[in-house]
Amino acid sequence: KKFPEAYEICRQFELDEGAMRKIVQAMTNEIYMGLAKETHSTASIKCFQTCVQDFPTGNERGRYLALDLGGSNFRVLLANLISAKEIDVISKTYAISKAIMEGPGIKLFDFLAESIAQFCKEHKIENDNLPLGFTFSFPCKHIGIDQGILVTWTKGFKSEGVVNKNVVEMLREAISRRGDLKVDIVAILNDTTGTLMSCAFQKQNCKIGMILGTGTNACYVEKTSNVEMFPAYQTSTKPHMIINCEWGAFGENGELDFVRTSYDKAVDRESLYPTKQVFEKCISGKYMGELVRHILVELMDKGVLFKDATSQILREREKFDTRFLSEIESDKPGQVRNACKVMDELGVRGTSEEDLLCLRHICQTISTRSAKLAACGLVSLIKKTKVKDIAVGIDGSVYCFHPHYHRLLMENMKLLLKDSAKFKLNLSKDGSGRGAALTAAVYTRRPPSPP
Ligand code: BG6
Ligand code: GLC
Repeated sequence: KKFPEAYEICRQFELDEGAMRKIVQAMTNEIYMGLAKETHSTASIKCFQTCVQDFPTGNERGRYLALDLGGSNFRVLLANLISAKEIDVISKTYAISKAIMEGPGIKLFDFLAESIAQFCKEHKIENDNLPLGFTFSFPCKHIGIDQGILVTWTKGFKSEGVVNKNVVEMLREAISRRGDLKVDIVAILNDTTGTLMSCAFQKQNCKIGMILGTGTNACYVEKTSNVEMFPAYQTSTKPHMIINCEWGAFGENGELDFVRTSYDKAVDRESLYPTKQVFEKCISGKYMGELVRHILVELMDKGVLFKDATSQILREREKFDTRFLSEIESDKPGQVRNACKVMDELGVRGTSEEDLLCLRHICQTISTRSAKLAACGLVSLIKKTKVKDIAVGIDGSVYCFHPHYHRLLMENMKLLLKDSAKFKLNLSKDGSGRGAALTAAVYTRRPPSPP
């Protein structure tokens, strides 16, 4: 351990069991506050109703369109529900520019409509009026299964004139402005909801969906009678509803101040939404690389690491991708071949083995804290559901590509849950394809078209 300064910084990111238990308790409190009418507006975990009260039965069939906006890719998908075991998905990714993500809302929705039209024309389904499930991965107030009002943008989006608007209406208007496309938008859902639905199609005991990708969030199955913000919460004949927690905002009431470091604060200051999405900024893919980068820059300032002039590239925002953490940590223990490759890719020269070992340690520190915090979130939800044998559906680039994330989650959840509940973490691929199609199928008002 040649660089004591680096190890000193990393210690600030350590979370012991006591700190994790305190976080579980604070998250639990915010979840209860989010569900209750009286405290909903001040809760940091808002627990939005999704209006999803029905779950796949395995009998869903037919072709459905889906849109996926809010992850690392914008995609249009066509899902064919063939049998209870088989869903065939074809999809196309459309590059979405920063100008569209941060420009006028009308341009964003015209771009979405244009992409759907292109996709449908390619597959000759533009006149089929197929049911469409819109995976819109942002906080929304649902006033119906096909009615969602954007509460705030998160992650890298800042499109003007969309907050407080019904995004389904905006998409319908954009489609009708074109006049060359017939689709039937039947549901708008969060990516966590899609992930849960996709997992629930195969596992009846799946009651939680989580995303660990660009952003982080989770949803879970709650008793309708506890969802006070749902007008019919006392009279609904449907016993359950999926709740979109929007846990990324946890910490906005200061609940994480006792663990946040100066590096977390620097990442926050430079983000599109300072002071918002505090939990997300400690955990998710949009920010993990930035956390590592801020630590590296401080160590460079102190003259500790990367003394070659080419390392100045690391001073540029978002230069250090979160995918680099996955690559670096994929090496055998104690090895730095991948760290060396990453530095090559960045054009940083003259690094020593000690430098690279230190870099690897910093990456591990950030990934471990991320997984511990995510474990706290999952444990609070498992406790809230009171289900004793539960499956969790998970998707997102961090969970999928990080070599140790699954293990770290498992270890820390076991530590916190002890024997109080059994759980399984399932990779639930493609919430926005399979999950959106299933949600659309469950809520389609007419029989689906034949395959
Ligand atoms: C995908 C889901 O696999 O994961 C999307 O289908 C979701 O709906 C995405 O938004 C999240 O991951 P990332 O890493 O793309 O943000
Ligand atoms: C952000 C969004 C949330 C989404 C998550 C994962 O936290 O606000 O809606 O589920 O990212 O994509």
